Amino acid sequence: MIDLQSVGVRYPDGTEALRDIDLHIERDGFAFITGPSGAGKSTLLGLVYRNIVPTAGKVVVDGQDVAKLHPGRVPFLRRKVGVVFQEFQLLPRKTVWENVGFALDVVGAGRREKYHKVPISLELVGLAEKADAFPHQLSAGQRQRVSIARALVNGPPILLADEPTGNLDPDTSWEIVQLLLNINQQNTTMIVATHDREVVDRTNCRVVQLLQGYVVRDAKEGGKYDAP
Ligand SMILES: Nc1ncnc2c1ncn2[C@@H]1O[C@H](COP(=O)(O)OP(=O)(O)OP(=O)(O)O)[C@@H](O)[C@H]1O
Ligand SMILES: [Mg+2]
Repeated sequence: MIDLQSVGVRYPDGTEALRDIDLHIERDGFAFITGPSGAGKSTLLGLVYRNIVPTAGKVVVDGQDVAKLHPGRVPFLRRKVGVVFQEFQLLPRKTVWENVGFALDVVGAGRREKYHKVPISLELVGLAEKADAFPHQLSAGQRQRVSIARALVNGPPILLADEPTGNLDPDTSWEIVQLLLNINQQNTTMIVATHDREVVDRTNCRVVQLLQGYVVRDAKEGGKYDAP
């Protein structure tokens, strides 16, 4: 589903953010991306939703070489890839319902589609009863659930999360990661970039560790945050 072949990313200022990355994530697969600040985690996620184009090698997402994508086709790729960030990036003057619905407005969905899909997505993240609340009336964990609902409302086959628990306490972090793992079980290919050692070590998932732009470890199953 996601295939990086000898990928390098050099930013215009000369920073080598990723070097010679080979990474394959199968359909419905899951991987944590770990590594210290500056290791290249966000850059790697940026490649998958074509926020960043590789300067070497090839990135293939759902059979499509992203570098060869016609600019007019980029929105179609983005519809396949939901993204969740550390800062929830909700619109403060819109309700939970409207925040999630907004992701459908952006892709030109009609009213009927919205009324069908928004409740399903809110139900999925366990926030149906908060539909009319505003973001400031929610806990941080609930806000992150809204941003996950928004990322999923288009039914993307791929979900990327960049430090999704960075603003959450340990218990809430664990709840959010369990939600993400549930979503992965429901046929969503997923990459989660994280600093959260506790969360990674509590799961039994694949762990891809980056250091200075290189993959230094790829523990296919039962990976721990640090190499043993
Ligand atoms: N737009 C940019 N221009 C130049 N250099 C950049 C840019 N974005 C990131 N970098 C550099 O690329 C490297 C990788 O950055 P990246 O944001 O991918 O790391 P990260 O692992 O996500 O770090 P963090 O854990 O702090 O989020 C770093 O050295 C960073 O300074
Ligand atoms: Mg980052």
